[in-house]
Amino acid sequence: MNKILFSSISKKFVLALAGVFLLMFLPVHLIINLMLLKSDPEPFNKAAHFMATFPVIKIIEIVLIAAILIHIFYGIFLQIQNWLARPVGYVSGNKSDTSFFSKFMIWTGASVFTFLVIHFFNFYFIRLGLVRGDPEDFYSVVHSLFKIPVYNYIYLVCFTLLGLHLFHAFSSAFQTLGLNHRIWTPVINVIAWIYAIALPLGFAFISITIWQFR
Ligand code: HEM
Repeated sequence: MNKILFSSISKKFVLALAGVFLLMFLPVHLIINLMLLKSDPEPFNKAAHFMATFPVIKIIEIVLIAAILIHIFYGIFLQIQNWLARPVGYVSGNKSDTSFFSKFMIWTGASVFTFLVIHFFNFYFIRLGLVRGDPEDFYSVVHSLFKIPVYNYIYLVCFTLLGLHLFHAFSSAFQTLGLNHRIWTPVINVIAWIYAIALPLGFAFISITIWQFR
């Protein structure tokens, strides 16, 4: 059992599985966040309250936090293993056939992690009582935050790096989970592009609209 859990292939499998869960979370988060664009705070605050109190969602939230931690742990572990297995850089050019994006996954991943730390201090920790703010009025918390230009710059840079991370994450997760197919892989790659562009753009649209027009 231990051998299975700690073999490189199963580590990559667990990494991908946790990643797929996170890929499913983001569209839900984006759709709920679109309510922030309404002038009435009530719908968003009600949705946030529901997410914070409904028991099934609470369980999903625990799974989500666990998925984030597992994903980070296995991502770092596999990267270190990779570096140790190939300590010397390529002499002439790069002969690896891994995609351009895959080489930067650890760094784009690190930037998403940095974003999450900032993001949790901005919002999530309020709900846990670790940071001051009204957990029943996240609408106002978000609106005050995005009125501060520097936060918009930070968030916009992070959304761009998130897009780079998501593009490779989406397509490689399917490969790792064994869903590699002559016909389906190109389709999955197109969906990955759409997903990786649409999600960060959606989040950026929210922050820019609040910053400039609300
Ligand atoms: C415009 C962009 C975004 C806004 C306004 C926003 C807003 C929020 C708010 C208000 C919360 C707290 C909700 C609560 O605890 O009830 C939250 C939680 C969270 N956000 Fe975001 N978010 C944005 C983008 C992102 C992105 C891009 C990610 C992932 C990379 C992300 C990941 C999370 C996670 C993991 C949580 C904690 C889990 C949860 O509360 O459901 N968010 N966000």
